[in-house]
Order: sequence, then structure tokens, then C-alpha cells
Amino acid sequence: MKYSKINISEAINIANLKIDAFDTELLLSFVKKVNRSYLYTHQNELLTTDEKTYFFELVQERELKKPLAYLIGKKGFWKNNFYVNPSVLVPRPESEIIVEKILEYDLEGKDLLELGIGSGIISISLGLENKNLSVIGTDSSIDALMVANTNSKKLKAKNVIFLKHDWNNKWLFPKMDFIVSNPPYVDKEKLIGDEDGIWFEPEKALFAEDEGMTDLKTIIFKSINFLKDNGRLFLEHAPDQAKKVIGEAKKVGFKKIEQINDYNGLTRVSILG
Ligand SMILES: C[S@@+](CC[C@H](N)C(=O)[O-])C[C@H]1O[C@@H](n2cnc3c(N)ncnc32)[C@H](O)[C@@H]1O
Repeated sequence: MKYSKINISEAINIANLKIDAFDTELLLSFVKKVNRSYLYTHQNELLTTDEKTYFFELVQERELKKPLAYLIGKKGFWKNNFYVNPSVLVPRPESEIIVEKILEYDLEGKDLLELGIGSGIISISLGLENKNLSVIGTDSSIDALMVANTNSKKLKAKNVIFLKHDWNNKWLFPKMDFIVSNPPYVDKEKLIGDEDGIWFEPEKALFAEDEGMTDLKTIIFKSINFLKDNGRLFLEHAPDQAKKVIGEAKKVGFKKIEQINDYNGLTRVSILG
């Protein structure tokens, strides 16, 4: 093994001039396959030439704002780490609100459909929380389905199946107790350009026409016919779409409407029944 002339402490100091100190530590521990505390206890250890090259390549990509999750190939969500790559949205902590809310319902023996699974975080987290919940997750992206299947296998979510389906096409699902979706809802026009990392994520996972409402409208419109009596549709959306979601829900005949705020007091989730 060839060693470079640079030790852990020096590598950290150089990287910290370019990127956030926390990101530096995560990237270096990822490259060295050690935990972060190892970096503190082995500050004088030399990096091998391969480690040095790989680490500074990753630092450069991070400096260009590539999401950390894509660089290290994983992101924590709910109770697990999920494999991610640039074909799926980077899981957002605010999507845990939807998981938390669904878990307040009795899921025993129930049927749940997720529309737009991405890496599978919501379907898999719910499937693992209740082994007697049957979960069907769909996405129009084959690449996303491959990522979600990798996660499902790794985490042994045996009650979760994933299917390729585009919600703009015909729906052939049985009626469900729960339908959940975090669809694309970002309004491209409203972006100011310095959003961290967003341009590395798949456009089809993020953006929707009509001020971000197109996919939300389609899902609200179609879901009402695929819910059992007392079934519920859970939707994540942007805070400024909350009123419009209520309008669309009433228009198609939803009677029960509840909205949930995030920890900053912004309305992020609507529950329609
Ligand atoms: C905002 S991402 C959410 C991913 C994941 N559920 C999460 O919370 O991280 C939306 C997902 O919807 C999928 N999608 C976009 N348009 C779709 C469509 N017409 N039919 C089915 N899935 C679609 C995208 O491929 C993407 O994976």
C-alpha cells in the first residue's frame, strides 16, 4: 500500500477551507471506512495515496454542491439508512411527518398504496413498523424502482411490493385503506437559484407545472375512487399549497380534511378522507 504525505488532521484542515466541517468528517470517515471518532484518535495517521485522491475528489464534488447523500450513497430516514443515488430524490426529514401521522392509525391487516416511492423510504419504513400492513409502492421511474428494491431487500421488508406505474395512466388498483404520496410539487418559477444541491436531483421527482399543483391535483382527483370507506389520502406538499389542496379536495368530494404543520409551524401534510 502506498502512503501519501498527508495525515488525517492535515486532510481535514485543507477540506474545511472548502466545505462544511461536518461534511468533511463524514466524507473522510466514509473514504477510510471508519467511524468519525476514529478521525480524532488517529490524527497523525497518513492517508494512502488512493484514500487521498478519492477524498479530495469527493470534497471537490461537495464544493460544487452535490448532495452528501449521493456522495456517500446513503441517507438516514425514520429508523434506517437507505441506499440512494442520483436517480432518486434525497430523502427529506420533513417526509417523516407523514410516516409519524400514518402510524397513529390502526394499520393491522390494512392495505396501503404509495404513489411515487423514490428510494422507497416511506413504504419500507411503514412496512417495517407493521408486518401485517400490505404495502404496494409505485413509481414511473425504473431507476427509482431499482433503488427502492435494493432497500427493500436489504431491510427485509417482506410485506412491501413495488410496481412500475404512471399515475397519469389508468389505475388498476384494488380499493385501499390508505394512499400516501410525496409527489413532485416544486414550482420551478419560484426557485431563486442557490438551492443547495437541488440541481443534482431528478427533475421528475421535484418539479410540477401549474405552480407545483399538477401532480397533487391528479392524485387527489383519482385517489378518491380508490379509497375504502373511512380510507385516508396522505399528501406532502409545500406550505403555500395548503389552501389549494383544501380547494381541490373539496371539489372532488373529500369530506374530512386535516392539515399538519412541521416543527417550524408550516403546513406540510394534508390528510383527506
Ligand atoms: C418527490 S419524489 C418522492 C420520493 C419518495 N417518496 C420520498 O419521499 O423521498 C416523487 C417521486 O414521484 C415519481 N413520479 C413523478 N411523476 C410520476 C408519475 N407521473 N407517476 C408515478 N410516479 C411519478 C418520481 O419518479 C419520484 O420518485
